[in-house]
Parts: sequence; structure tokens; C-alpha cells
Amino acid sequence: MTILQPKKGRYQLQDYDNTKRTFEWDMVQEQFTWSTTGKINAAYECIDRHVKEGKGLKTALLYSDSHRDESYTFDEMKNATNQAAHMFRRLQVKKGDRVFIFMPRSPELYITLLGAIKVGAVVGPLFEAFMKEAVKSRLEDSEAKVIVTTNALLPRIPIHELPFLETIILIDGDETHTPPYYSFKKEMKASSDDDSAIEWMDLEDGLILHYTSGSTGKPKGVYHVHKAMVQHYQTAKWVLDLRDDDIYWCTADPGWVTGTSYGIFGPWLNGITNVIRGGRFSPDDWYKTIEKYHVTVWYSAPTAFRMLMAAPKETIEKYNLSSLRHILSVGEPLNPEVVKWGWDVFQHRIHDTWWMTETGAMLICNYLSEPIKPGSMGKPIPGIKAAIIDNEGNELPSNEMGHLAIKTGWPSQMRRIWNNEEKFSEYFSIPGWYVSGDTAYKDKDGYFWFQGRNDDVIMTAGERVGPFEIESKLVEHPAVAEAGVIGKPDDVRGHIIKAFIALKSGYEPSDELKDNIQTFIKSELAGHASPKEIEFKEKLPKTRSGKIMRRVLKAWELNEPTGDLSTIDDD
Ligand code: WTA
Repeated sequence: MTILQPKKGRYQLQDYDNTKRTFEWDMVQEQFTWSTTGKINAAYECIDRHVKEGKGLKTALLYSDSHRDESYTFDEMKNATNQAAHMFRRLQVKKGDRVFIFMPRSPELYITLLGAIKVGAVVGPLFEAFMKEAVKSRLEDSEAKVIVTTNALLPRIPIHELPFLETIILIDGDETHTPPYYSFKKEMKASSDDDSAIEWMDLEDGLILHYTSGSTGKPKGVYHVHKAMVQHYQTAKWVLDLRDDDIYWCTADPGWVTGTSYGIFGPWLNGITNVIRGGRFSPDDWYKTIEKYHVTVWYSAPTAFRMLMAAPKETIEKYNLSSLRHILSVGEPLNPEVVKWGWDVFQHRIHDTWWMTETGAMLICNYLSEPIKPGSMGKPIPGIKAAIIDNEGNELPSNEMGHLAIKTGWPSQMRRIWNNEEKFSEYFSIPGWYVSGDTAYKDKDGYFWFQGRNDDVIMTAGERVGPFEIESKLVEHPAVAEAGVIGKPDDVRGHIIKAFIALKSGYEPSDELKDNIQTFIKSELAGHASPKEIEFKEKLPKTRSGKIMRRVLKAWELNEPTGDLSTIDDD
């Protein structure tokens, strides 16, 4: 596909001229409250600040799902998040405490998340599909003190196995609850909506903890601080190109980093009307959402675009989608076919953006004001230096494949992996660089091209899944002796999860057993973590130290040579 030139127009990044000005992140920092008071609170900057600036009556949140259809102004969000802050204060939440939010998307999710930030808590959003084991490991590792949830999800929280968990707030709770259970409605009613519960934070104080998967070990608690908002704000301006009259829709759930950095902070720091749709994906509902709210800027993911692409042609023809002016994508490689489809059906270029949970915000992007090479992730944003390096940290010439690395020191960079100094330092093992774990190359025009992960992390339907967590669960199944999990390439989902399993003696491979194992993972971990395919093997390839060689499993799957097997245990 040929290079797609920008449409005519004035875009926010054009205000920044690469050749004439030097951009420093500190320039952005200056406009928030800390420039006058030395203190900050990201939730205040998202909501209250706009009320103070006279935008109280502007719509902040447009929410809908199959049961609810609501809208909230910035004024209303200010009051509700203040009430939530007072509720947390009364329940003894202090600066730095971990408050987890575990529920389906709803206005209350956003209100409690911002309310908890207002009192200085570090918030931990948990995807609603997580089952008991996944919930437990995250609450345990973070030593969460409070969880906000619903009655339906309560059975998945093993309260008695979590000694640090003191308080459970039930969104649909009633008057009859006794501690440690509290009714959200009752507590909110008893709370003032003034702003006296706001905790004024330092730039380096904790904001959010996102658990994400690596290739080994348990999920990692990626820890971000309030200063990250500098980059959320600026990238939302430059890359999402958000302006005052935009209606913006980010389709990601806050359980994943896109759903917070760009489902909460990016748009609201800019005072933009934010659309949130609850419920599951369906092409009709998605197009309906764009039509109903006149969405102008839409941020989604390749899997969703591919699923829309696969829907019958008549589906899209039923809707008026002419409000759209800017479409973006994140999370997986954006295939040129999808960009072409976007061009055909929306008459817009789909702009790819590259970043990670650990980076906190966008780093490499396609801008509205520049040509797009379909298949490329674009170029580093101003203030970011990205490079392709070798194992020693030498920068490689253009068109050579190597580690995608970023010069350290950008505002939204993670500050810690919770309780895991060692994992944290692995990212920075080459001095001066953050090594992403992605392989890529840079062309002679400075565009970056994603080539793959160089660990075993699986991106399935835009969600990041670690094989280790699934393998550990699989071997808890009574029939499973050994398990190895890989991502198998899939046209729609990018990859699907495939498990190779060796059974314990006394068990025979069968379809029933496959179903049973899949159900086991679904009910213990999460639906999206359950292997779509299972293949039984007599034995799995292992290193002499007993580690399953996923590399060999992948080669089996793809009918490729298995490479060096010298470390394999084949006795
Ligand atoms: C992958 C999501 C290709 C990549 C915000 C990265 C991408 C991982 C792109 C992070 C892209 C993200 N093209 N691959 N535009 N964006 N990735 O932490 O492998 O859920 O390392 O963050 O997703 O996934 P995470």
C-alpha cells in the first residue's frame, strides 16, 4: 500500500515545529497547579480544574450500556468524585494505600477510581473477567487495603486469604451490610461533596498500579506516579489531536493501561467529553455508539478493527459515521489491510500508536500532520528518543533489526515494579536505555516497523497474556503433568492461546478432557486466558534445568526447524 498523505487541516502537532524549537517536558508541566503550589493531584487536574476554569456545565462523561444511558457534567463529576474521596477518607484510606477497583465499566468505576486518586491512594484497576486466582495474586502482591466491587464479582475475591484487605465496598450493596462490607450508595449519601478530602501530592507520588504479564513469573505490578499526567495530557493533545469540541471514544477497559491513560487521564486532563460504552463488543453497538454521540476521535485496537472488517458489509452501511475525524489504534501490529479498509469505509487513515503498560503513555506514533506508511508504527513523539540497539547498546543503522529501546527519562515512565526490584532492573540492563522487549527496525525516513516480541508474551485480541500464569494454572488441573503455552498466529485476534499438554499417567487425551481443562482455566483465571487450542503430547521439550522450551513448541506449531536443541532434556 502506498504512503497516505495527511488531509488538509490544522493539527495540534503542527504548532510544534521540530526544526525550530526544542521541546522539553518541563514546558508542559508548567501549566498545572504545581507550578504555583508545588503540589498536584491528577484527579483534580482531570475534573475540578475545568470547573474552576468555567467549564462546569460541559459534558464530561457520556455513558451507555444495554441498561443505562447517562451523562455527567464536569460539575457533577467533581461533586461525585469529591463524595467518593470523603467516603474513602472515612474508611481510613491514606496516601499510598492501594485501592483496587474490580467491576464492569460503569460511571461508578470512573467515580471511585478518581475519588481514590483524590485521597492519594494508588489505584489498581482489575479487569472484570478475572477469576479467583488472578484476583488473589494481584491483591496479595499489592497488599491492597480496599476493593470496590459488585455483588456478582464478590465470590471471586478470596477475602479470608487476604490479610491486608480491610474494606470491601459494594457498588450494588444495600443497607444491611456490616463491616468489612460497605454499601457504596449509603456511604456516598453520607459524604460531603466539598473538596476538602483532596490530598495534595508530589509529582513522584504513586498514582496507579497496572498488573501486566511478562514471559516468566507472576504478573508484574507496574507502578506509575502523578507526573505521568504530563505525558498523558500532551500526547492526547498532539497524537489524539483533542480539541475543546471533540467527542472522544476510547474503547479500552480501564483494566488495561489504554483504558486509563487514554480512557481517563488523556481526555479529561484536556477537558474533553469522554464516551464510555459498557458491555461486550458487537459491530452494531459500536457503530451505533459513534452515530449516537457523534464521536469525532476514536481510539481502538487492531483486533476490534479486524472484527468490524469481518462483519457483513450491510452492518456499516446502516450507520452515519460522518462525525469521525480521527481514528487511532494501539496494542498490536496494525496490518496494512486494516489501514486500507479504514480508508475505504471511513475515508480516514487509521493512525497506529506504539507504547506499553511500562511506558505509561504513547512513545512512537503516526501524527495527523504527517504521511503514514501503512504497517509502520510511526515516529517517536517530540521529547522521546527511540532507537534500535544491539545487545551491547550500540545503535544499529537503518533497516537493521534489533531491540526497540527508548532513552530513559520520559515523564510517564514506570517508577517501579511493585515488590520486584529485580524485574524492574531487567528493563534497564543497558545503561541509559529502557529495553522494551519488542524487536523492530527503523527505516531511512525514521519510521519504526514492529517485528515481534523477543520474549514469549502473547498479545491476543489486544490483551497481553503471560504464558507462565496459564501454565502454572494448567498444571494444577488433576490430569495435567506438564504444560507449555504459546501464541498461535490468528487472522483476527493477532494470536490465540495454544497449550501443549502432557497428561499424567492414567489419563487419556479426549475432547471432553480438553473442554474440561478449558473450563478450568476460564473459571480459575479468566476467559481470555483460556487456551483456544489444546494439543496433547507424550512429553514436552525441556531444558536440562526443567524449563519448558516454548521456542520449540512454536517451531512445532509453525512447522519450522526447531533450531539448537543442545540444552534439551531428551533422555
Ligand atoms: C505490543 C498496550 C505493534 C508490543 C498499550 C508491546 C504493539 C505490547 C503496538 C505492550 C503497536 C503495543 N504495534 N505492537 N502499535 N502497541 N504493541 O503493555 O509488543 O498491553 O510491547 O500495552 O503490545 O502491551 P501492553
